[in-house]
Amino acid sequence: MSLSNDNNFNQLQLRVQFYSMPQNEWKKLRPHFPGYTSGLVKSEPGKFVMNPLYGFHAEKLYRMQPRRDDVWLLGFPKCGTTWTSELIWLLMNNCDTARASATHLIFRTPCIELPFLTSETELSPQMMNMLNAIEKMQSPRVLKSHLPFYLLHPDLLDTSKVVYIARNPKDAIVSFYHHTKLVKRHNFQGTLEEFAEYFMEDEILCSPFFPHVLDAWSKRHHPHLHFMFFEDLKKNLRGEIEKVADFLGQSPSNEQLGKITNHLRFDNLKHNDSVNNELGKRTGFMNKDGNFMRKGKTGDWKNHFGPELNSKIDKWIERNLRGSDLTFITELEQQD
Ligand code: A3P
Repeated sequence: MSLSNDNNFNQLQLRVQFYSMPQNEWKKLRPHFPGYTSGLVKSEPGKFVMNPLYGFHAEKLYRMQPRRDDVWLLGFPKCGTTWTSELIWLLMNNCDTARASATHLIFRTPCIELPFLTSETELSPQMMNMLNAIEKMQSPRVLKSHLPFYLLHPDLLDTSKVVYIARNPKDAIVSFYHHTKLVKRHNFQGTLEEFAEYFMEDEILCSPFFPHVLDAWSKRHHPHLHFMFFEDLKKNLRGEIEKVADFLGQSPSNEQLGKITNHLRFDNLKHNDSVNNELGKRTGFMNKDGNFMRKGKTGDWKNHFGPELNSKIDKWIERNLRGSDLTFITELEQQD
């Protein structure tokens, strides 16, 4: 079904508007993000940060009809969404690691907002085709998005199964910093300290971080939502895979579990060309220095933050989690 044939297309209305980022904020950000040639937009309400092309078309993704047999993976960028989408795809596809390695993840678990993540101001026919291909994908689909719930179809959680992956914000900041240096579309030119400030001020793409994760946390008892943490995957990958399998109603054998646990280990995924995005270096999407599969550790922030920045981030986390029972693990005694 194409977008315009969706029966609900004309009935749903996203009550969120996108505006250009205020001049004073954009003036500060602009020299650090020369990759954002068409600027950035923020939503009202929500203050969700995105590039303008998405802002123009936000309604299209809001109206994207979820299916009963879909699995949607949601999460803030750099919180382990690639890892988790590979995990989900394997569970939904008979743990077929050979097929997984033969087709790029982007085609198996497409990111629904990807067609809009460019500095272009018009949606190209090629991108429109990409969106329509998602609509036409064979069931069961595994779809991924960094959008918060309120920008997705209001029936999503009551219709499809949703997995939400969260990661402690300290490692998310470090990972996102390296990512924005690696990917030319961002082309970040500042220091880690400057990036962390932008992150805490909710100016980074897909910000604000805390409302994103807290909203999903508040829905975690919904029978269609499985909330999981990057740190738990690092602690006990096989145990976490078993929980996701259970949630998805899949029963992999012991042998299959062993096989996909091995497949999903960092050192293996790092060398798996259908997941590691090394392709981006050949297509010119990414710079040559650095890797999309970077370190894959919990606690790497300790190699990046000085005491002053760390204390500032601690206070920011504390302020934002006050009154909530959500807590993050920021270091592990043992990890893969
Ligand atoms: P680092 O930059 O800290 O290494 P996303 O997929 O949401 O963009 O998240 C990317 C982060 O997940 C990166 O973190 C990446 O290395 C990490 N990652 C991906 N696969 C992983 C795996 N199998 N084990 C551990 N970390 C993994």
